[in-house]
Amino acid sequence: MHIAVWGCGYLGTTHAAAMAELGATQVTGVETHPTRLAALQRGQVPFHEPGLAELLTCHLDSGVLHFTDDIIEAVSADIHFLCVGTPQQLDSPLCDLSQIDAAVTSICSVLQPGSIVVGKSTVPVGTAERLQPSITAAGGHLVWNPEFLREGTAVADSLRPDRVVIGSAQPGDSASRTVAALYPTTEGGDIPVVWCDLATAELVKTAANTFLAMKISFVNALSELCDATGGDVVTLADALGLDSRIGRRFLNAGIGFGGGCLPKDLRAFGARATELDVSELGELTDVVDRINQRARRRAVDKVIAGLHRGGLTVSEATVVMLGASFKPDSDDVRDSSALVVADHLTAAGAVVRVVDPVATSDSQTIGDDVDEALSGADVVVLATEWAPYVALDPVKAARLMRHRIAVDGRNMWNPTQWRDTGFDFTGMGRN
Ligand code: UDX
Repeated sequence: MHIAVWGCGYLGTTHAAAMAELGATQVTGVETHPTRLAALQRGQVPFHEPGLAELLTCHLDSGVLHFTDDIIEAVSADIHFLCVGTPQQLDSPLCDLSQIDAAVTSICSVLQPGSIVVGKSTVPVGTAERLQPSITAAGGHLVWNPEFLREGTAVADSLRPDRVVIGSAQPGDSASRTVAALYPTTEGGDIPVVWCDLATAELVKTAANTFLAMKISFVNALSELCDATGGDVVTLADALGLDSRIGRRFLNAGIGFGGGCLPKDLRAFGARATELDVSELGELTDVVDRINQRARRRAVDKVIAGLHRGGLTVSEATVVMLGASFKPDSDDVRDSSALVVADHLTAAGAVVRVVDPVATSDSQTIGDDVDEALSGADVVVLATEWAPYVALDPVKAARLMRHRIAVDGRNMWNPTQWRDTGFDFTGMGRN
């Protein structure tokens, strides 16, 4: 089976490597961005993802996988995966679908009759129906198979997904079954397959990300209630999560969600719902987004309040942000809550020192030496729960810092331990 993967960003690179690992005889990654293409051809992954470079190298070396910008090399593909990006438009919450449209035009120009085009990119519902006529006219079959991989665990998520969703105009048709057979699923086996129509397949992805964002914003709103009443949001989330109908995952309160997916998918989902006259859903996603912005702002307020309690002002303070990426085990800083908080504090006049094990950014200088950053600082903020930052010893931090003020933006530190070390300690909704 020859697989072509169109667009080798995060999703496409991981998917191409996973397809090679899962047994495809030939995988052609089509990438037009020259720097990214050159890196991939050398076996270098242009982002931080544990295990991916090893998988890539292994299949480049075996000759199964290769990357190219020449679309003619995809001409003999049996299956074409659409993995291009669908970023948020600059001036609107809607997705920019120009890369999808360009890729489909290219695919149709090389498509062999009878081959399959599979949509993996996250798109607003209705996109597949719009693309279908040109693919059918070129003799192809369209299947929608959304991807649910998470950064940091992308390799495992691709090789062993929670579920495989396969949408097509005739659910369960022969093209759908060919696509499902690429994954380690067996009929009625341990990885469930959901056969559905194209619209449902598109909706599963955007609805899933919106639901996850909604859980996080709900718990972040609860954390504010806890701040107002003396409750403890961690215990509250534990108790809520014990109800199996609710579940504990994605109920960690903190400085909010970020990344290249949740924020933009939430906004695009709401905007599309409003376009389709389901305006309450648009209002709901709007509130979820606003609570998320507010969680970031609350962290800034907590830093400033801690400084005031210590008789300091923000303009004379040095604040250390531990973490810049939107989540640990990733170098992705897109819409990262950590950097938004850092930017707000910088705008308020603080000297902000950001550290991160792997991330870099254009807006902030990011170091990686925690001890150096803490030396002479007034406030330390846990912004991204990288394991070494979660394990930071308050005794050591106290020794290095000028003042002892700590804000735990991820509710990972032990409040008693930090307070016993003399810190003015605040969490996000913790008493
Ligand atoms: C997400 C979806 O989980 C994945 O299925 C989809 O394919 C792509 O988008 P990802 O962007 O890798 O994956 O991040 P995720 O693990 O979902 O975390 C998103 C954000 O939510 C992070 O900033 C994280 O810190 C935050 N988060 C997560 C919380 O603030 N609290 C939680 O309880 C969980």
